[in-house]
Amino acid sequence: MGKLAVIGTGYVGLVTGACLADFGLQVICVDNDEKKIKMIQEGKIPIYEPGLDSLVERNTYYKRLEFTSNIKEAVEQSEVIFIAVGTPPADDGSADLKYVLEAAKNIALFMNGYKLIVNKSTVPVGTGQRVKQVIQNVLDARGVNYPFDVVSNPEFLREGSALYDFTHPDRVVLGIDSERAERAMKQVYRVLYLNETPFVVTNLETAEIIKYASNAYLAMKITYINQVANLCEKVGADVHHVAKAMGMDGRISPKFLHPGPGYGGSCFPKDTRAFAHLGRKYQAPLTLVECTTEANEQQKNLMVDKVTSVLGDLTGKELAILGITFKPRTDDMREAPSLVIINRLAELGATLRIYDPEGEKEGKWRLAHLGNRIMFCQDEYSAVNGAEALIIVTEWNQFRNMDLARIYNTMKNKHFFDLRNIYERHIIEKFGFRYYCIGR
Ligand SMILES: NC(=O)c1ccc[n+]([C@@H]2O[C@H](COP(=O)([O-])OP(=O)(O)OC[C@H]3O[C@@H](n4cnc5c(N)ncnc54)[C@H](O)[C@@H]3O)[C@@H](O)[C@H]2O)c1
Repeated sequence: MGKLAVIGTGYVGLVTGACLADFGLQVICVDNDEKKIKMIQEGKIPIYEPGLDSLVERNTYYKRLEFTSNIKEAVEQSEVIFIAVGTPPADDGSADLKYVLEAAKNIALFMNGYKLIVNKSTVPVGTGQRVKQVIQNVLDARGVNYPFDVVSNPEFLREGSALYDFTHPDRVVLGIDSERAERAMKQVYRVLYLNETPFVVTNLETAEIIKYASNAYLAMKITYINQVANLCEKVGADVHHVAKAMGMDGRISPKFLHPGPGYGGSCFPKDTRAFAHLGRKYQAPLTLVECTTEANEQQKNLMVDKVTSVLGDLTGKELAILGITFKPRTDDMREAPSLVIINRLAELGATLRIYDPEGEKEGKWRLAHLGNRIMFCQDEYSAVNGAEALIIVTEWNQFRNMDLARIYNTMKNKHFFDLRNIYERHIIEKFGFRYYCIGR
């Protein structure tokens, strides 16, 4: 098949481009952020995603993968064009489609023949039709009439295991309304098709709903176990046993039943809000999703209450924060629970000694307004040095096996807040710490 273009070279676009190139296809990744493209052309990957650097390097070396900020060139040379630009939340919670519509407009401006436009961004129902309309309007204004199809192909990858997820999806969802487009998409995903990955082929609107319905469901499941954990804590039950037994029920499944400080990241918070907004817009209220977003905000604040209920007045107290990214194995801090927790602890007078293996660069600008209330440390041991308490916010593997005796000896007070339940109480208490976790 001919060349493919991927518009947007972020977490989804770069992974999509590199993985499709690794399937043996010719791919041009395009981004309007010239700095980002220059960086990638120089061999530097702008995000942290395990394995991505070598995948990009290998496919660039074999000339299957190239990068440009010239959208005209990318559109003219390719037949299949993926849109993988951001869809950040607008003020009312809906998804802001300006980048998607801008990409669609640019495609139409430079179309020189049949194009298959594949939307990978997470977008509200109706966007596929809007993209078609935008393209048709531009073609009309240009006075040309090229055939085109629009497909919805939502992405389900998880940051931190994005390459595996892209190449081993549970299913590929395709919202399609033409046979030509279906044939081309099956060709694009031929490698997965041969591996017997299930394909769900449906209409555009259904595919668009599938993505939001899935993400909102997962966010709801996390929130549910968080609330159950909060109750367990009050009544002397152990949420781990509750979750384990629940998960043994085949109808429930054990995944996404780990309590924590609330979900974050670039997807669940904005997708739940956008889905709830969609429900309100079409007068089909998604009240469970509305409650989920509210409960998730409360969960982050409950973590701060947990700390203050033990430490009292935080004025002048130094606290160590271990992990700030929204989850391990990523540098992404979009809507990370750590942001709410750190901001509130600082507001209450604490000084935060922070360590994260990959989050420092992001964290520095996102928390810059806190000035000398925060300090980034070079490792977990320097973070806890002299601290009143340590608070594990993100469960990086290296925090699971810390030298607890060393930590105990360097901390001023021995309060150990494990907001991811990665330790066992009896082990931590054996060292002399006071241990606080969630729901146990
Ligand atoms: N990050 C995830 O884990 C994930 C998973 C599944 C789906 N999604 C969805 O995928 C979409 C992209 O998410 P992301 O995390 O990759 O975003 P991102 O912000 O990391 O990347 C978006 C990229 O698009 C570029 N861009 C914006 N407008 C452009 C234009 N007109 N032309 C060319 N480039 C343009 C930006 O410069 C940026 O590099 C979102 O809709 C998101 O909800 C994300």
